[in-house]
Amino acid sequence: AWAAAVGQRRVLLAEPRAFCAGVERAIEVVERALEIHGAPVYVRKQIVHNTHVVNDLAGRGAVFVDELDEVPPGATVVFSAHGVAQAVREDAAHRHLSVIDATCPLVEKVHAEARRFTARGDTVLLIGHAGHEEVDGTLGEAPGRITLVESADEVASLEVDDPERVTYLMQTTLAVDEAEEVVDALRGRFPTIVGPGSADICYATSNRQNAVRRVAAEADLVLVLGSENSANSRRLVEVSKRDGAASHLVESVDEVRLEWLVGADTIGVSAGASAPPNLVEALTDALAGLGATSISTRSIGTESIAFTLPKEVRRPTGG
Ligand code: F3S
Repeated sequence: AWAAAVGQRRVLLAEPRAFCAGVERAIEVVERALEIHGAPVYVRKQIVHNTHVVNDLAGRGAVFVDELDEVPPGATVVFSAHGVAQAVREDAAHRHLSVIDATCPLVEKVHAEARRFTARGDTVLLIGHAGHEEVDGTLGEAPGRITLVESADEVASLEVDDPERVTYLMQTTLAVDEAEEVVDALRGRFPTIVGPGSADICYATSNRQNAVRRVAAEADLVLVLGSENSANSRRLVEVSKRDGAASHLVESVDEVRLEWLVGADTIGVSAGASAPPNLVEALTDALAGLGATSISTRSIGTESIAFTLPKEVRRPTGG
């Protein structure tokens, strides 16, 4: 039935897409911890927000827990790529856990800013989405002293101690255009506000958004591979829609529905920073297998960033 729907149609692949350097590092941390310590290795929260990655590592001996009270005393626990609040580090120390921290260095950069700005007495505003693990971790650098701002609409009603001493930070996986709207509103209200511009939004998030917009400009439909709880993947769907393409987030090719393909002459494909690249291949293979579909890439450039592993799992040769 698919063949009739997509035969003779074009597929455009957004580049870059799928795994970022922080996700590759976090997965390697768990793999190396399993090699060094053997199973089980405990991981607090999903190591990255992707169902396939989590299931794969669980099959190899990683045990995912929500909180540290589920980890036996003295065991090894990995902190996820999204980072943790200071209170979690303290809790781990009290429980005598041996911690391997897979927090992405670009999330840790925002934590360091949070510590620096609150230490000098600024009112700190964090632009981000409530309930996301990264946001909980950043807020937890200075509990009660960082205020979450979710949208431009909230700016008017913010209460701050000293409007002259306000700083802002951002979640790394925001939509660049939406974050700029919030910053504009903040500047309107606090003209002396300082912050990172949009530089807290990581390279992987902004590159994937720019690339998917390139594709969305030409496509009728954009399919994004990623899990429902992956913030940066959801942003790819939203920016595609804002650029006029229909768009859906799917865990894998199995979730693609026939009715989405009807009338879509050009189908764009991308994947969030936590989504494995082989899911993209499975999707393009399925689309290609349906007929004379051409597959080409729309690239905004390539990425060459790689992060070193934490010392606890680094190989003696380095890397
Ligand atoms: Fe890090 Fe950005 Fe990936 S913050 S984990 S490089 S999405």
